[in-house]
Amino acid sequence: MKVGILTGGGDAPGLNIAVYTLTKLLEGKHEVYAIFHGWRGILDKEVRRVTSRDLIDFAFEGGTFIRTSRTNPFKDETRAEVFARNLRELGLDVIVAIGGDDTLSAAAQTQARGLANVVGIPKTIDNDVYGTDYTIGFDTAVNEAIKVTESFKTTLISHERVGVVEVMGREAGWIALFTGLATMADFVLIPEKPVNWDIVANRVKEVYKDRRWALVVVSEGIKEYGGPKDEFGHSRLGGVGNELAQYIEKVTGLETRAVIPGHIIRGAPPTAFDRVLAVRFATEAFNAIEDDDFGKMVAYRGGDIVRVPITEVLGKNRLVSGYWIKLYETYWGP
Ligand code: F6P
Repeated sequence: MKVGILTGGGDAPGLNIAVYTLTKLLEGKHEVYAIFHGWRGILDKEVRRVTSRDLIDFAFEGGTFIRTSRTNPFKDETRAEVFARNLRELGLDVIVAIGGDDTLSAAAQTQARGLANVVGIPKTIDNDVYGTDYTIGFDTAVNEAIKVTESFKTTLISHERVGVVEVMGREAGWIALFTGLATMADFVLIPEKPVNWDIVANRVKEVYKDRRWALVVVSEGIKEYGGPKDEFGHSRLGGVGNELAQYIEKVTGLETRAVIPGHIIRGAPPTAFDRVLAVRFATEAFNAIEDDDFGKMVAYRGGDIVRVPITEVLGKNRLVSGYWIKLYETYWGP
């Protein structure tokens, strides 16, 4: 069979390992093709035969060697027709799509329209793909966010300041929650637990009285708060850390600084967990291909690797909930 591999959406540490491992397992039995720039690679016919030898030198680095894009081939019917025609001409029998919700929804459409068989592998540093406990890239992003936060803390202590760290996480607060738990931050703000900023400022004041520094972690995706809002009534994404820091300084009178590590936490080399997760996901994707079991996403559930229908996981995010919300409340209140 002709098997194409693509990575779509934001890059994530561990992608290269997944592509390399899968190629290594497939070659010999099947023809393996790299589809460059995600789904755009089919529209542009940027598809090249690869071997594991081509990939090994970069396999353990962050990013994605076969590049990525956020192109959705089913955005409109004209584009979908080009996509279907190109795919027929390329003759790919199977596509392994490594991505988040958008990439996987295009995979589901590809399967439903009978254009190719697909297998999905979930990745995103946000860890918000429904149906899996972990996605490739999350663990590395959290480890990097912890490093940044600990360095920041050192200088907060020296200068007796308040610090706000804003981390990525567009819909779900997983990165902020894990960073906050791992550094025992004084407050954590996540989209799943809207909180008035005065509560945050009061906590900061209390903590500061005792030890003369304080640390707050905020997820970029928080949607409701007591501070300044844009014309839609939402916080301004990708800058909410600065706004929160200004608000805290204004209300408490304490010198406050913000840091926004942004993409830096996304570009690091993968941790042991992400490396092994990528290998396990790639192995299961290979098994699915060998079993002719298509339209499935491989997933991590309770330590096991399983396959779930892609259609079951689409259109919803895996948000912080249940046990994790209880844990959140233990430290940062109801
Ligand atoms: O891939 C997820 C993510 O990192 C989000 O956390 C963030 O909001 C977004 O991507 C940033 O996208 P871009 O890299 O296109 O700026």
